[in-house]
Amino acid sequence: MNTNQPPICDYEGSDYQTTFWDSGDRAYEDRVEAIAIQRLLPKSGNILLEVGAGAGRNTPRYQAYQRVVLVDYSSTQLQQAQANLGTSSRYTYVAANAYQLPFTAGVFDGATMIRTLHHMADPQLALEQVRLTLQPGATFILEYANKKNLKAILRYIFRRQSWNPFSPEAVEFTELNFDFHPRSVIKWLESSSFTIERQLTVSHFRVDFLKRFVPLEVLVNLDSIAQLSGKWWQLSPSVFVSATAVGNTPIAPPDTLFRCLICNQDRFSQDQDILRCLTCDHPWKHENGIYDFRLK
Ligand SMILES: C[S@@+](CC[C@H](N)C(=O)[O-])C[C@H]1O[C@@H](n2cnc3c(N)ncnc32)[C@H](O)[C@@H]1O
Repeated sequence: MNTNQPPICDYEGSDYQTTFWDSGDRAYEDRVEAIAIQRLLPKSGNILLEVGAGAGRNTPRYQAYQRVVLVDYSSTQLQQAQANLGTSSRYTYVAANAYQLPFTAGVFDGATMIRTLHHMADPQLALEQVRLTLQPGATFILEYANKKNLKAILRYIFRRQSWNPFSPEAVEFTELNFDFHPRSVIKWLESSSFTIERQLTVSHFRVDFLKRFVPLEVLVNLDSIAQLSGKWWQLSPSVFVSATAVGNTPIAPPDTLFRCLICNQDRFSQDQDILRCLTCDHPWKHENGIYDFRLK
């Protein structure tokens, strides 16, 4: 059923949140990402889609929105998010593939995708999927890993690295982990009907030596200033883009959220653990507060 989709970097059972964030000495990266999100997030909004939400590390930062729909391919990441964020109606947890988003067209007025595009072998397909779910005028905050970063440029100049940081193609540094060229990302966004509003360069000082010897507050404040240079050039390992959905695309009818991935219709009945499509009768699981729209 899912044979034509690009491969997925599977986090099922992964302890990513604990090893990478909670005990991985990443306070600097976490703090500077929070600053970038705060700068780019609209002042208020109704319903936000978070693609690749993981364990919900960033979700509390989206307070400006009344509701957040967390999407991740890994149900164990969503279980961790649910344990952290709770089961209130503010949060909806959805196991789904970013390449096949199970939502009514034009249902969200905001979306984010942080540290997730770098797992996409077909980034443009994923961006097109996000755009379909958005109303015109919605804000999309995208973070991507930048291949044209200063460290890569220096390594290339001094022949410590074979791949060219200036060329537009992606570099896959480990399986299903990609760095992208800023110009390519902008091109994919624009051809998916987004206009670029703002770019922030983030994590300039992601260097072990600096993180060890310079106080965290100093590094965070320096990065906060350096982020603004993203308007002119992008030389940091991480880039945040805010884009607006443009074009004459639909706004979802009230009280819709999901679309059936089998028949594309958006009316369902909800039994105990099943969301059943009223058009094609396909049952979608809803267990322990997590909807499951993965096509295996
Ligand atoms: C590096 S983690 C980032 C998590 C979170 N955004 C953060 O910044 O803490 C990447 C997340 O993307 C999810 N992911 C990867 N490929 C995906 C896909 N095709 N569809 C949905 N989620 C995907 C993974 O399961 C993982 O939770």
